[in-house]
Amino acid sequence: MSLNTLVLGLQWGDEGKGKIVDALSEQIHAVCRFQGGHNAGHTIKVNGQQTVLHLCPSGALHPKVQCVIGNGVVLSLEALAKELKGLEDLGVTFENRMHISNACSLILPSHIGIDKARDKKESIGTTGRGIGPAYEDKVARRAVRFGDLGDSKVLKEKVTTLVNYHNKVLENLYNAEPFSIEKILLELDSFKYLYDNYSSDVQDIIYKWSKEGHSILFEGAQGSLLDIDHGTYPYVTSSNTTAGGVSTGIGVGPKFIDKIVGISKAYTTRVGEGPFLTELFDDNAEMLAKRGHEFGATTGRPRRCGWLDLVALKKAIFLNSVTDLCLTKLDVLDSFNSIDACIEYDNSGNPVYKTFPGWMSKTEGINDFNNLPENAKSYISFIEDFIGCSASIISTGPSREQTIYLD
Ligand code: GDP
Ligand code: IMO
Ligand code: MG
Repeated sequence: MSLNTLVLGLQWGDEGKGKIVDALSEQIHAVCRFQGGHNAGHTIKVNGQQTVLHLCPSGALHPKVQCVIGNGVVLSLEALAKELKGLEDLGVTFENRMHISNACSLILPSHIGIDKARDKKESIGTTGRGIGPAYEDKVARRAVRFGDLGDSKVLKEKVTTLVNYHNKVLENLYNAEPFSIEKILLELDSFKYLYDNYSSDVQDIIYKWSKEGHSILFEGAQGSLLDIDHGTYPYVTSSNTTAGGVSTGIGVGPKFIDKIVGISKAYTTRVGEGPFLTELFDDNAEMLAKRGHEFGATTGRPRRCGWLDLVALKKAIFLNSVTDLCLTKLDVLDSFNSIDACIEYDNSGNPVYKTFPGWMSKTEGINDFNNLPENAKSYISFIEDFIGCSASIISTGPSREQTIYLD
């Protein structure tokens, strides 16, 4: 029987979505990205080799898995071409298994120019990939879309109008260099093969697969607290990272999804600016960063680290109708004497912690729940009770096989 699954992050991104999507893809016909762009960095480790994907769905390393990029994604053709080339060099091929929606809004070099110029002034700490400006143009109904590559006359007109507008913004508001329209058109032309090879009516294909009884997995990027509507605004990304984003970003109704796997680290991290109530600045922060190798997979920036915020996590479970919790990076807590988790905020908005005894033994690589230390089991059990959702996956290392499945 087919089972359609959504996998998404419940924190500020980097929860381990890439690892989990890759691990689940064994049983799956197609993996679909539905929002975000190459601001995402999803890490997969197979046979000791690490791969970071930014745009390609994280099922890509399974040769039979179909890869879909839905209309909700903002697409940099340069980034996509580079990523596909890198994967092809590793022997991963995409013939007849990559499908990109014609309705994807394109990220042009001038979007990146605006993002960088703006972030210098009004710092959010964006990834500098042009994500915000590209979504602005989509909503303002002036975006150039992937399908426009099919008609060179329309493409030229739309790019000229849009880049002229970008150049006014760059020169007048940010005192920055304008972009050459001709160069951008030439660059787009050099990526026309991506359109010729992969442009698709994504909704139609998903309908067909669904009629054939295939299981489909939808892969979120970023995390719930970075959602444009429900996150820590304005320190957020520019898309709906929460469960509703699948409906708009692919074109399926909410009932199409059977299972929603929400991923949380066993602690918390955040890259970029913005509030982070349980952030630590002591030796514990350093130990989390060091043991968890907490550096951004896209920008290489150090991630801010802190304890798990169960109040925020409980909200994210409801916000996304999560059916299954996936707890990652449990092994990172292996050498902590004690572990804190935030269970409420006091009247001044500060976190109130419950302290748990650490387990001070190795969980790294454990793939049978029974072999976890009792204190680790108690920590997990408290989390499940607090948020009202059971864990069905626990991750104890970056590799596929370092995973506990509970059902
Ligand atoms: P994503 O954006 O949600 O896909 O996550 P990232 O790939 O940006 O960051 C997660 C990092 O943690 C990557 O370096 C993964 O290889 C690593 N990772 C994932 N799961 C685990 C785990 O259970 N334990 C450890 N130690 N590392 C993990
Ligand atoms: P994955 O999919 C962590 C953060 C940026 C910045 C804010 C806005 O790997 O979990 P943007 O470039 O999107 O306009 O930046 O969002 N951010 C992420 N943080 N993981 C990500 O993706 C992120 N994508 C964006 O650091 O604070
Ligand atoms: Mg990431």
